[in-house]
Amino acid sequence: MSDLDLAQEARRLDAADALRAKREEFALDDHDTTVYLDGNSLGALPRAVPARLADVVEREWGRLRIRSWTESGWWTAPERVGDRIGRLVGAAPGQVVAGDSTSVNVFKAVVAAARLAADGDGGRDEILVDAATFPTDGYIAASAARLTGCRIRAVDAGDVASAAGPRTAVALVNHVDYRTGRLHDLPGTTAAVHAAGGRVVWDLCHSAGALPVALDADGVDLAVGCTYKYLNGGPGSPAYLYVRRELQPRFDSPLPGWNSHADPFGMSPQYAPADGAVRGRVGTPDILSLLALEAALDVWDGVAVEAVRAKSLALTDFFLRCVAAYVPGGRLECVTPTAHDERGSQVSLRCADADEVMAELVRRGVVGDFRRPDVLRFGFTPLYTGFADAERAARVLAEVLGP
Ligand SMILES: Cc1ncc(COP(=O)(O)O)c(C=O)c1O
Repeated sequence: MSDLDLAQEARRLDAADALRAKREEFALDDHDTTVYLDGNSLGALPRAVPARLADVVEREWGRLRIRSWTESGWWTAPERVGDRIGRLVGAAPGQVVAGDSTSVNVFKAVVAAARLAADGDGGRDEILVDAATFPTDGYIAASAARLTGCRIRAVDAGDVASAAGPRTAVALVNHVDYRTGRLHDLPGTTAAVHAAGGRVVWDLCHSAGALPVALDADGVDLAVGCTYKYLNGGPGSPAYLYVRRELQPRFDSPLPGWNSHADPFGMSPQYAPADGAVRGRVGTPDILSLLALEAALDVWDGVAVEAVRAKSLALTDFFLRCVAAYVPGGRLECVTPTAHDERGSQVSLRCADADEVMAELVRRGVVGDFRRPDVLRFGFTPLYTGFADAERAARVLAEVLGP
């Protein structure tokens, strides 16, 4: 197909896109200036956030000051925002708390899961970690293992199900691989780890807001994720922790800060954990970031994650078609699976001099990112990425790579 045909097809697909009006809710450059394909790293700014943040700063903090902890709902914001995230990851209210970073939540979840295993039938001293994990998860899991008397076994995420056995205390797995964009089998892996008697912690950083996640329905024990990618919470916005309702009474946090106390203002020297998702809190929440995230989540009102997923797959399919049509064979290797049930919402392409190629793409207004040693990553965020964006990105990529 010629460039003209694909450009026309992109216009037709954009015109038929039920989500296309959503783009107006974000602060983005004109399509012709910048194609933003890095929402899998830092989501774009929802337009409603600056005014809400100004109100939080000027009125809630500036005028109400300390009263805002109750009158503006600051104290309960971690659970309130957690429930809104929960809706996007298939968690009924009362199981998700927003706060801290993903790294810190991985720590809480893995240590708590290992402690649950120690309470059980004993002899479980193995923490399975996805061998290609985002590094922070691996570092934290290694420390969690040292603290709980476990050892780490690294296995491919796709092999966790078969690797889990009588020694497995917990498996820590990424739902979507950050480098390749491969989507792992959450229901099947969870069921297999459970059948082996272990617990599973999922890292949802690259799936929440990009594709349906059914934490409750799939029986997940614990999950964590960030909110600055597909949830558009802003740089460093708080992460979240899901603790399945049945496990909450036995969730023994390794970071039992005063915010997770049953009576935080009792100021008791003895720790007594609160019930419910609150048990996952630690210290004073980062209110400005948390309320910016809360405002950012408004863009999800009335949006079905299933519709986002359908558009995400259509966008990545279309981008791959455009790349195949425009880029001469042999220049790129696609490391993202083509099968829909194995693909997240990004396309990763391997090529020579990938760092220089990405730098040139950014100069020409196509913003993806580069992961060492040789991967170009293009993230597709269906709330604001269009088919014309995908077509232009592929065309500029072909121009940069040359004939
Ligand atoms: C899969 C995954 N886990 C964890 C993190 C980062 O964790 P944190 O929010 O603590 O920086 C990232 C960041 O990109 C990630 O992709």
